[in-house]
Amino acid sequence: APQRLHAIRGELLHFVADPADQGATSTEHLPDGVLLIENGHITECGPADALLSRLPAHIPVTDYRGKLIMPGFVDTHIHYAQTDIIGSYGEQLLAWLEKYTFPTERRFADPAHAAEVAGFFCDELLKNGTTTAMAFATVHPTSVDALFEAAQQRHMRMIAGKVLMDRNCPDFLADTAETGYADSKALIEKWHERDRLLYAVTPRFAPTSSREQMTLAGRLFAEHPGVYLQSHVAENRGEVAWVTELYPEARSYLDVYDRYHQLGVRSVYAHCIWLDDADRQRMADTGATMSFCPTSNLFLGSGLFDLDRAHQLGVRVGIGTDVGGGTSFSMLQALNEAYKVLQLNGQQLSAERAFYLATLGGARSLYLDDRIGNFKLGKEADFVVIDPAATPLLARRMAHTRTLAERLFVIMTLGDDRCIAATHLLGERAYVAQS
Ligand code: GUN
Ligand code: ZN
Repeated sequence: APQRLHAIRGELLHFVADPADQGATSTEHLPDGVLLIENGHITECGPADALLSRLPAHIPVTDYRGKLIMPGFVDTHIHYAQTDIIGSYGEQLLAWLEKYTFPTERRFADPAHAAEVAGFFCDELLKNGTTTAMAFATVHPTSVDALFEAAQQRHMRMIAGKVLMDRNCPDFLADTAETGYADSKALIEKWHERDRLLYAVTPRFAPTSSREQMTLAGRLFAEHPGVYLQSHVAENRGEVAWVTELYPEARSYLDVYDRYHQLGVRSVYAHCIWLDDADRQRMADTGATMSFCPTSNLFLGSGLFDLDRAHQLGVRVGIGTDVGGGTSFSMLQALNEAYKVLQLNGQQLSAERAFYLATLGGARSLYLDDRIGNFKLGKEADFVVIDPAATPLLARRMAHTRTLAERLFVIMTLGDDRCIAATHLLGERAYVAQS
């Protein structure tokens, strides 16, 4: 029963601040710890010996000793409708959209297809330890229903929205400024803040929306307090050049969104590679978020995200898998490739900071850190149980680590869904690996 008082025991790790700002005091590590959970929320987090001795004897304890328990991963950018084209060969962004993405998204006009993919997608997220995701559906309103229904059944936190796209795309995927507005409004009324679900106004990117649609997207975002907005910006150089042609009046690609009132708290922009410091400063000043999607940026040959500059200017940053441009549902693999992107950019990503970005940092970037992101009192009890020695190679490599930082770095570099022993939502087990 989801309401019961229960305890979880194992090695606990969570963050209370950004390791890039606060160093070692940002990390709380309990080699043998206990989480106490009531009504799906954390009521205590502390050392096992002290906590267990004062708990009534009848309280059930799930014993995960030997495993590492962290807050559930937060994927700040993903496309559920691209599940079936992950790993498609040979193209950069614009050709990849035409050749693979638009044809596969067309199939979501069929609600039965949408429901089947949505179920697989949510199960795959849980199998990878992701407990909160911010996802694109397709242009079809029923594709949003399918995703929210699948997430709701599993008690997952999901932010999602209907793609707005009324030009420069195939006719079979186009809405209009008016239908896009009306359909989004109806979906907001139906889904936003229902259970753990939140709505995001979703203009695909500036090239596929008319000025009328851009205006109405900004209006939807302004008219519904608490609603999100998600889009893409400055991912690929060909895309940036195209935006310059389509919107010659704008100072930059980001400025297009600014002109249509689409920057602000709870707006989340994937990629943010080809920005200048004026753009980054504008994102910081408006409270907008960058979603860094390393597996996608490398796979589509898009470019190298500048994390240091984003951090120096005070922009909120989360990590996204960007499946199907991204090549893995695993946030561990996203962290692995984030490290490599930053290596190519002459920057560093410590393991602590990487796991902060996948948990509390992601929650902060989505303005959800009052509800999720760490094990503080009152947070929703979403967590992932990691097996640090899930494969023979991992077990060997782990035997040669000395510090927590080394172990975490090996997990993010070599790990993937094989390391996820279990995933819990609101305290309850939502996925368990078959052994
Ligand atoms: N830009 C516009 N649409 C998309 C998409 O579906 N994926 C990625 N990676 N970039 C986009
Ligand atoms: Zn994307």
